[in-house]
Amino acid sequence: MPTLWGLVLCLAVGASASLYPESGDVKVLTPENWSSSLKQGPALVEFYAPWCGHCKNLKPEWIRAAQALKGILTVGAVDADAHRDLGQEFGIRGFPTIKFLHTDASGKVKSVEYNGGRSAKELVQWALQQAQAMALGRLGEQAGGSNSGGGGGGGCGSCGGGGGARGGGSCGGGGGGGGGGGGEDFYTGTDVVSLTDSSFHKQVVDSDDLWFVEFYAPWCGHCKNLKTAWIDLAKQLGGKVKVGAVDCTQHKQTCDEFGVRGFPTLKFFGENKERPEDYNGGRDTGSLAAFATQHWAAQQPPPEVRELVDEVVWEEHCIGHAADADLDIKEVKAKQLCLVAFLPHILDSKAAGREAYLQILRDLTVKYKDRPFSYFWAEGGAQPKLEANFGVGGYGYPALIAFNPVKGKFATSKSAFEDKHVKQFLESVRLGFESVSDLAGSLAKIETRAPWDGSEGTVEAADEFDLADLMGDDDKKAEL
Ligand SMILES: *[C@@H]1O[C@H](CO)[C@@H](O)[C@H](O)[C@H]1NC(C)=O
Repeated sequence: MPTLWGLVLCLAVGASASLYPESGDVKVLTPENWSSSLKQGPALVEFYAPWCGHCKNLKPEWIRAAQALKGILTVGAVDADAHRDLGQEFGIRGFPTIKFLHTDASGKVKSVEYNGGRSAKELVQWALQQAQAMALGRLGEQAGGSNSGGGGGGGCGSCGGGGGARGGGSCGGGGGGGGGGGGEDFYTGTDVVSLTDSSFHKQVVDSDDLWFVEFYAPWCGHCKNLKTAWIDLAKQLGGKVKVGAVDCTQHKQTCDEFGVRGFPTLKFFGENKERPEDYNGGRDTGSLAAFATQHWAAQQPPPEVRELVDEVVWEEHCIGHAADADLDIKEVKAKQLCLVAFLPHILDSKAAGREAYLQILRDLTVKYKDRPFSYFWAEGGAQPKLEANFGVGGYGYPALIAFNPVKGKFATSKSAFEDKHVKQFLESVRLGFESVSDLAGSLAKIETRAPWDGSEGTVEAADEFDLADLMGDDDKKAEL
């Protein structure tokens, strides 16, 4: 059967994409032969993914360690990406994960995870310590000194497993880290909030705030490397997003609850605090801040559609203003784009008609929420000087202008004031497809007006006054 043979060939090719050569000192282990191999003696095993950069970096040292331990200990490698079951069985969450494995007297597989440095020497030393502890255990003796997997710190990078995360380095967690007691807090005196098993739920999970949390171990080299950026991040975000840190050597319960397996693990606690989002991007302040800010912005309500009732609104939300200490005014930057709608007179559109126009604008604010745009409206004729700036007026209401206050240029929508066309207009302005004009004259000051109260217009008494003016006879009117 040719098709079957084709399949077999494919599998064979897939298998040969393994990181380690078949005939080298590193034993290539698979689900089929891995336990038989273990029965012959303890093994130092790397669980890797072929695509993982940290695994490729480890490869030469791993081969050297295998050469050094030849005839003493088995050194193996499992492609845990290809053999996910095996990875799962050992709780592999990041690559590479290194474990010392052996079968105990009852035939059960025991494993100890390694979290130290990635040099051949460190690997060999640790593996021999494990073997020593195992041998002494058979004698009923305790191994003296440190037999834990942690200690080293150093360069323990790992690639996130499972979801295909391929972020920066991290130290394998979980295993017997225990880097000497701690005590001194990593982030004391900074804007990073130190979270504990007892405070985590109250401060993070039950709060409405957004939290960006680092789960770390003080001994972990990558955590030390991240520290400055994490502190800067907290300062930069200024509380928009809270920045926290959990020392997993002290507050294991919280770290276990959120499945932390490597250090540092960064999680963003957004709207659904029970399901934080893993962060696997860059570890520089810029990348971290961009990620946090994006989430923050997504949670903000869209900007208001404001009626142009005075100069303050206009400056504050469109053209900006300079700081003035005397007036206690902060500097406000100009917006990138201000959309200004000149709507028909209330008697022409009625309240419902005006609401419909405003709703079209509100829909835009939602669509372009993350953009530095602002949205205004004025009743046609209410701001004549501004209309003159934009060449609006006469009977051309509703009119829609997109104004760039920094450049003093604007574009005018030539389509109907309907949802679809308005969206198209803004999109084509954004993409630079609309023709733009220079402001006619210098930008007007906004006239102070009473804001629309949402009511229908009344056919004003003004008509009567006009009549009276025309007739020029107030007394007569009073008699009527
Ligand atoms: C285990 O099986 C794989 C796949 O057949 C093979 O490539 C590898 O050399 C075997 N390893 C050992 C230690 O027998």
